[in-house]
Amino acid sequence: MKSGKVLSRQRFLCSIGISTAIVYAIARVTFEQKQEKIAMPQVKELHVNGALAGVSADEERTLLSVLRDDLNLTGSKYGCGEGECGACTVLVDGSPTRSCRLKVGNIGARKITTIESLEQNGKLHPVQEAFLGVDAMQCGYCTAGMIMSAFALLRKTPNPTDAEIIRGMNGNICRCGTYPRIVTAIREAARKIEGGKV
Ligand code: FES
Ligand code: FES
Repeated sequence: MKSGKVLSRQRFLCSIGISTAIVYAIARVTFEQKQEKIAMPQVKELHVNGALAGVSADEERTLLSVLRDDLNLTGSKYGCGEGECGACTVLVDGSPTRSCRLKVGNIGARKITTIESLEQNGKLHPVQEAFLGVDAMQCGYCTAGMIMSAFALLRKTPNPTDAEIIRGMNGNICRCGTYPRIVTAIREAARKIEGGKV
């Protein structure tokens, strides 16, 4: 009588083990099938800072994420993630662009320029020098985006008035409120560049 009970308990535990293994196997197959179905098309290369960069990124990912996490170009910053603050600004075919909102699948062969490319042969770009020269930053979180927008502005408008600077920089937010020094820096950079050979 006692050994019969032990036997049925063993059978019971054994059957639970088998059932669990079957459920696990089914769940795993289903998961793998789902993964196959939702596999995103991949972007394989991007034109960044004058060279082709090999990547392997879901086309739905943002440019900012790929620059920072895959290409280790961490100068562009994640601020709002909503296209509102400008901390993530890079140039796409020369135009200031919010990289936090641009999906890599929508870039194609367009050329991306990031803050990392401005320094040449160990020498800072005049816009960078001017920002440092007049101390146009406090925490510095907005600075890379500000410099990229200023860089683009001076290419288009080599000798801007203060009103043109303010209009051109509209949309780049500095939470530390260093706007007056930013305007001074851009004015100073324009003067240094002498006629806008940026
Ligand atoms: S992080 Fe891109 S605009 Fe704010
Ligand atoms: S310097 Fe701090 S956000 Fe601009």
